[in-house]
Amino acid sequence: MARRKKASSIYKNSDNYDIFKEPTSKYRTEILRHKNILLFNGDTLNEKLFKKEFIDLIVTSPPYNVGINYNSNNDELSYENYLDFSEKWISNCYNWSKPQCRFILNIPLDKNKGGQKSVGADLTNIAQKVGWKYHSTIIWNEGNISRRTAWGSWLSAAAPYVIAPVELILVLYKNDWKKTTGTKISDITKNEFMEWTNGVWTFNGESKKKIGHPAPFPRELPRRAIKLFSFVKDVIFDPFAGSGTTLIEAQNNNRIAVGVELDKNYCKLASNRIIKETGALEFNEESYQARRFAD
Ligand SMILES: C[S@@+](CC[C@H](N)C(=O)[O-])C[C@H]1O[C@@H](n2cnc3c(N)ncnc32)[C@H](O)[C@@H]1O
Repeated sequence: MARRKKASSIYKNSDNYDIFKEPTSKYRTEILRHKNILLFNGDTLNEKLFKKEFIDLIVTSPPYNVGINYNSNNDELSYENYLDFSEKWISNCYNWSKPQCRFILNIPLDKNKGGQKSVGADLTNIAQKVGWKYHSTIIWNEGNISRRTAWGSWLSAAAPYVIAPVELILVLYKNDWKKTTGTKISDITKNEFMEWTNGVWTFNGESKKKIGHPAPFPRELPRRAIKLFSFVKDVIFDPFAGSGTTLIEAQNNNRIAVGVELDKNYCKLASNRIIKETGALEFNEESYQARRFAD
């Protein structure tokens, strides 16, 4: 794997910086500006995508390199190239994040097809090499045990396969774990806090068919991450926006949402889904938004 220098924050944060007022850039195309949501068509591997630190919380699930037929990216890289790809985007996100940013990263525990690989451990190491600090790991129990078919050597110790029907949700942060900036308004209930601070989360995955995307995560995942790890009005970022799940939950939980998606078709899908799931603008809201963007 190519060695890349540990990222130091190359972009400085300005407290009054508002991503909604940023002029257009040739490195990204604005697809949707709706309520408190901005969706761009762009490449998260491009470090010039954003020029300032603007993110309070990243919630994302990158491509897993398991041969999924995405429209615009190759999901069958060599493992070495996949780790290089991961290091590049994780480093870019570090540079675009505010000093107290948290990074909630949904990834596989391991890879079982085409050679066993410790994906979760390798990406945890890469994130730390880039500069992110480790806080903890949540185990997401997807309950998809019925899909198991790969046993290796059936009823024999010759070469059995052990497969855990779980995914990881890494909890990382930039400089300080304690959040002292932002509105300091939390909207999590007592029951939610007690349940979600237990690091085993159990809920089902999302239906690809229902959403029309090959790998959506369920809304419950970003909903929990957003309410547990961010304040109201924080900027939530998803560098692999897909069908827009994170952006919908950010808006519906009174946060500001920014997403980037490489594929134009998924951008369109996300835009339609966002408008459907977050509601059309009210007449008064429309003039408020117009004012907000004008000044
Ligand atoms: C696992 S899916 C994310 C799904 C999303 N969480 C959802 O709920 O719909 C990964 C997404 O990353 C997009 N993608 C792949 N490479 C990208 C890149 N370099 N920059 C931006 N998006 C990319 C793919 O097109 C795909 O939609």
